[in-house]
Amino acid sequence: MALQKHLVLFYVVVSFCAASCYSSGFQEVNSLHSFVDHEKESGYNSRAHPSNMNTIEGVKFMEFIKPRAQLFSSRKLERAGSKSSSSVKTISVANFGAKGNGADDTRAFEKAWKAACSSNGAIVLVVPQKTYLVRPIEFSGPCKSHLTMQIYGTIEASDDRSVYKDVTHWLIFDNVQSLLVVGPGTINGNGNRWWENSCKRKPQPPCNEQAPTAVTFNKCNNLVVKNLKIQDAQQMHVRFQNCKNVEASHLTVTAPEDSPNTDGIHITNTKNITISSSVIGTGDDCISIVSGSQRVQATDITCGPGHGISIGSLGEDNANDHVSGVFVNGAKISGTSNGVRIKTWQGGSGSASNIVFQNVEMNDVTNPIIIDQNYCDHKNKDCTRQRSAVQVKNVLYQNIRGTSASTDAITFNCSQSVPCQGIVLQNIQLQNARAKCNNVKPAYKGAVSPRCSWGLVN
Ligand SMILES: *[C@@H]1O[C@H](CO)[C@@H](O)[C@H](O)[C@H]1NC(C)=O
Ligand SMILES: *[C@@H]1O[C@H](CO)[C@@H](O)[C@H](O)[C@H]1NC(C)=O
Repeated sequence: MALQKHLVLFYVVVSFCAASCYSSGFQEVNSLHSFVDHEKESGYNSRAHPSNMNTIEGVKFMEFIKPRAQLFSSRKLERAGSKSSSSVKTISVANFGAKGNGADDTRAFEKAWKAACSSNGAIVLVVPQKTYLVRPIEFSGPCKSHLTMQIYGTIEASDDRSVYKDVTHWLIFDNVQSLLVVGPGTINGNGNRWWENSCKRKPQPPCNEQAPTAVTFNKCNNLVVKNLKIQDAQQMHVRFQNCKNVEASHLTVTAPEDSPNTDGIHITNTKNITISSSVIGTGDDCISIVSGSQRVQATDITCGPGHGISIGSLGEDNANDHVSGVFVNGAKISGTSNGVRIKTWQGGSGSASNIVFQNVEMNDVTNPIIIDQNYCDHKNKDCTRQRSAVQVKNVLYQNIRGTSASTDAITFNCSQSVPCQGIVLQNIQLQNARAKCNNVKPAYKGAVSPRCSWGLVN
């Protein structure tokens, strides 16, 4: 009876909320309770599955998705915005010789960073409203005090590929703690030359497999990145790696649909990161989440064109990879090849677990919901069946509706030796399409269409 009441309340909340209140904390908590309830109700044996949502990790996970504290503490806002505050010093790259006139301003940026980073007391490093050409540059820490980089203008990459000694990075923030990078300006990777010479576009050598990530944050804890436009990256746009406690919001990330490997936001080995209110349309994943990442929350994401929101790939070259605690709540995904995807290679190990995809609107998406444990995209790789696999478990798909561009709205291509476990589909309406399911027994809740009808033939 109590459960029934709870469910009625939950459906009322959901039907009022479905379209409009994506980030309502009330709904978040309700729906996870519901996930847990459902598992009890359907006889899902939590003792048999040690990292069920009810376990310690699950509790922490629920804790983490509770309505979060304000993105900005007032102190942070003060240091970002106010020049009058006596405790905050402001310096500009212009003070160090940056002209923003089409000449190379790298040296000035380096000097300005050095000054800002060694300053005692909070400091704002300003990039004025001009376009500054810079070569690959490393903004490294640790810095003496809290630093804000406020970009009003545009930081643009040179299109001369010979200036990159390390072809994997353009702008890198390395080991800077409590850093704030705010707009409203633009970071422009000017990637056209790289795309033209990529192996995807130009199969005959010499071609570039690798191209720089436009902006990398490495080992940056307590990081805020806000209100920026990042466009036309050489390869990935923004990469968070080895970071903890990250708030990224109000980002606009764009590149042409045919630009190769230009992921929007890439998250690797990063814990406790929130991406919110962002618009991402590129030639690859809008958001990709790979090994070592935990507590990843994405809310209010507009995605497309591109490859959708992806966990993985995991387990490539027999890697032992782990991703857990991913909560995607509120996304509008349009014209992409995938919607919400989990992809793992055969032969790997580890797990992708405790994952919620909630309140997602799909618009003409080729594979709206997909788990592929047989992922293999390199022609030169061995794609034959292997016994070992990355375990996929405890994945809730809830309130997902819209249109599929293919006949397969749902594909669960799970591994025969390590089947998918704890997959729940709740309130799914994907039109005129079917579900192909292999080595998985999803639980259904509410109205779910399509449901698994026939298996894949392997
Ligand atoms: C997660 O990060 C946010 C800020 O980005 C911080 O306020 C919060 O305390 C962090 N949570 C944990 C459990 O570290
Ligand atoms: C599922 O995986 C197998 C590899 O075992 C592959 O042959 C098949 O094409 C995959 N199906 C889909 C729909 O991706």
